[in-house]
Amino acid sequence: MNVVLGVGGGIAAYKSAELARALMERGMRVQVVMTQAAREFITPLTFASLTGRKVITGLFSSAGPEETLSSAIEHIAVAQDNEILVIAPATADLLARLAHGLADDFLTTLYLAFTGRVVLAPAMNNNMWMHPATQDNLAVLRKRGHVIVEPDEGLLACGANGPGRLAEPDKIAGVIVDLGAASSFHARDLEGETVLITAGPTQEPLDPVRFISNRSSGKMGYALADAAAERGAQVILVSGPVQLSEPQGARVVHVRTAHEMHDAVMAHLSEAGIIVKAAAVADYHLAQVPRNKIKKTAMRMSMDLDPTPDILAELGQKKGDRLLIGFAAETENLIESARQKLRSKNCDMVVANLVNQEATGFESDENEVVLVLSTGETIPLSRAPKREIADRIFDQVLKLRLALHAAQ
Ligand code: PMT
Repeated sequence: MNVVLGVGGGIAAYKSAELARALMERGMRVQVVMTQAAREFITPLTFASLTGRKVITGLFSSAGPEETLSSAIEHIAVAQDNEILVIAPATADLLARLAHGLADDFLTTLYLAFTGRVVLAPAMNNNMWMHPATQDNLAVLRKRGHVIVEPDEGLLACGANGPGRLAEPDKIAGVIVDLGAASSFHARDLEGETVLITAGPTQEPLDPVRFISNRSSGKMGYALADAAAERGAQVILVSGPVQLSEPQGARVVHVRTAHEMHDAVMAHLSEAGIIVKAAAVADYHLAQVPRNKIKKTAMRMSMDLDPTPDILAELGQKKGDRLLIGFAAETENLIESARQKLRSKNCDMVVANLVNQEATGFESDENEVVLVLSTGETIPLSRAPKREIADRIFDQVLKLRLALHAAQ
């Protein structure tokens, strides 16, 4: 695997030399790119000696016009040649420039031209790390699906104690190995499959202007659609009302209510081999919606709500040899409740999602779930961007199918 190691200007730059070695020991080809500030801390010669490759230090060469032209487009060639871009140490300034798309040196220009996976290992003073500006920039970068290898806590070069130390090179190298293994395994391993995915909330009208709904943003379901399409599947995405752009390559069917979602799912069931039900379907609706807006009065009001169709349960009855993956949004007894849903709805896997934690579950860009399988296994997936979680879910779906076929 080919990796670009971007080195930012911080005292931790010396640890990047250990990272370069750790990556080479794991069989990777490493192309080092240094910022000007990095060269104040460590010389390009150190990296050139370790990697056996010329170190890139600037956007423009000081040589003649021909060489200047070739180095001016070098960032495109480097972007195309490598699968992973890791920046370590990623300083507060670099994070800000990446988050805002500034491109005033080789590393930031390369970043914009790069289409592979990006890993950022920040290192800085603890107050700089905790500053809202840095945290906001990190949130933007996480949202783009980049992997952040969080800094360690401890004594910092400035004498302060707290979070900000560059993670250990072996840990960063491990993250890159996992990412590389995952992305090469993914290649096009869902080619020939049709995956039916539901996403987002449903809205159940109470009158022409009011409705019952929930906090689902659709991010988890859209991430699943994105991952499945990228891995070669035909994707049918049945989506409740969300504010997201349509995943590339997916056929999107827009619905509003649980009944509409039910009808759309059943209409496409015959095409699908894998069904993933990430939508947060409203459990109740008002059967007779008044034609006019309900007038406000000073009196208490109650409404009789009827259950909506349980789409997952019906799929469980009709699934045949399709793989059926449900979700379980829980605030307590996570695994027990997910197991109960797995059994009662005849699923092959339930993605158990604790939804009363900050930064995961509803609306957030990241998630942390436990996969509960019909084989009895439970597989925890630690906190990661929803796109990453989506890929890990499909990894396990494919493994599960092999296990189920082998057991037949
Ligand atoms: O959309 P995000 O903001 O990214 O948030 C993601 C998420 C938290 C919504 C998602 O990860 C998740 O947990 N989705 C399931 C939410 C839910 O409705 O869970 P549940 O435990 O109430 O339902 C269990 C399963 O039955 C789900 O697969 C659901 O789609 C399905 N269901 C529920 C009710 C119903 N009438 N029909 C159904 O098919």
